[in-house]
Amino acid sequence: MTAQLEYPDVQDADALLSVQGLWKVFGPKAQRVPRRPDLAALDRADLLAQTGCTAAVRDLSFEVAPGEVFVVMGLSGSGKSTLVRCLTRLIEPTAGSLLFEGEDLRAADEKRLRALRRSKFSMVFQHFGLLPHRKVIDNVSYGLEIRGESKPDRRRRAQEVIDLVGLAGNENLYPEQLSGGMQQRVGLARALANDPDVLLFDEPFSALDPLIRREMQTEVVRLHREVGKTMVFITHDLSEALKLGDRILLMRDGAAVQLGTGDELVGAPADDYVREFVREVPRADVLTLRWIVRDPRPGEPLDGPELDADVLVRDATRPVLEASRPVKVVDGGTLLGVIGDEEILAVVAPPNHQPA
Ligand SMILES: Nc1ncnc2c1ncn2[C@@H]1O[C@H](COP(=O)(O)OP(=O)(O)O)[C@@H](O)[C@H]1O
Ligand SMILES: [Mg+2]
Repeated sequence: MTAQLEYPDVQDADALLSVQGLWKVFGPKAQRVPRRPDLAALDRADLLAQTGCTAAVRDLSFEVAPGEVFVVMGLSGSGKSTLVRCLTRLIEPTAGSLLFEGEDLRAADEKRLRALRRSKFSMVFQHFGLLPHRKVIDNVSYGLEIRGESKPDRRRRAQEVIDLVGLAGNENLYPEQLSGGMQQRVGLARALANDPDVLLFDEPFSALDPLIRREMQTEVVRLHREVGKTMVFITHDLSEALKLGDRILLMRDGAAVQLGTGDELVGAPADDYVREFVREVPRADVLTLRWIVRDPRPGEPLDGPELDADVLVRDATRPVLEASRPVKVVDGGTLLGVIGDEEILAVVAPPNHQPA
């Protein structure tokens, strides 16, 4: 949610979730695919033709830091849902390692996994998965009931999270009496009720109208600020990814194409695929001055106004265009360089820009 590099290199010991060399292969004798370099190297079509297998997740490695919003983005079929289900072993990975708070999840038995899923993880799905014959409050407290908490405790906690997600007053309604956006708020409240360490979202807002969808995104940003939970958020929507993600993992055909902050994906795309993916992004809303700062030219006046390197180009546009001198870009007191009208205009109105 910020443009700063807060998690440049998550160290193993600090990671909440650590994924190394993760594979999920569907199909006959799936195990051999990650083991055999000749098969592992095949693209999707050839792998299917030669083995009858689909590698939904291919050799993924990443770490999620405590408190981070980690977004996994990719087109439909790129393996996002498979990945997020592998993280709690709702889908059994084919190869690789999975550590949660240092614990080897792949070694966990069923009993331990159930306990972890109940207390440490919560999922929010696209289709809200609410129980139709239970009122809002009973949907929200369902997980607590499973955990064996007393009725007064359940009620108290359910009411707390219902208030938190803005559903107060709707406790006694049934899901069908609610709009899609409100139903997903119930989904959010239910996920939060367990007080999990990690919230896993699988395209939770894809079925909602654009306006409601933006409202729900803002809601997640607010909730994250308030409760500070670690989130793994799956989406196929780039603007959603940019709005929510501290870091974004872009997947294609099961593999990682790029992992970075939003401004890194936009400012320094790893390849043509990423470049194409981010082409339509309003760059001024994502890039900071750090990306466009240049060295002062000989003789250029250095007595202009100062802006921080992390200011978005969008927010710098007016001050820079209004200044009669180049604007100095500083980072923690250090002068990085300057920017003038040209640097701003190159982002806001690039010369090769095709009007829509
Ligand atoms: N149970 C399954 N059996 C075989 N193939 C599957 C299964 N689940 C998913 N796949 C395939 O794995 C790929 C990734 O699917 P999925 O994880 O659902 O992608 P996404 O969530 O990004 O749309 C797709 O090609 C899909 O057809
Ligand atoms: Mg999916």
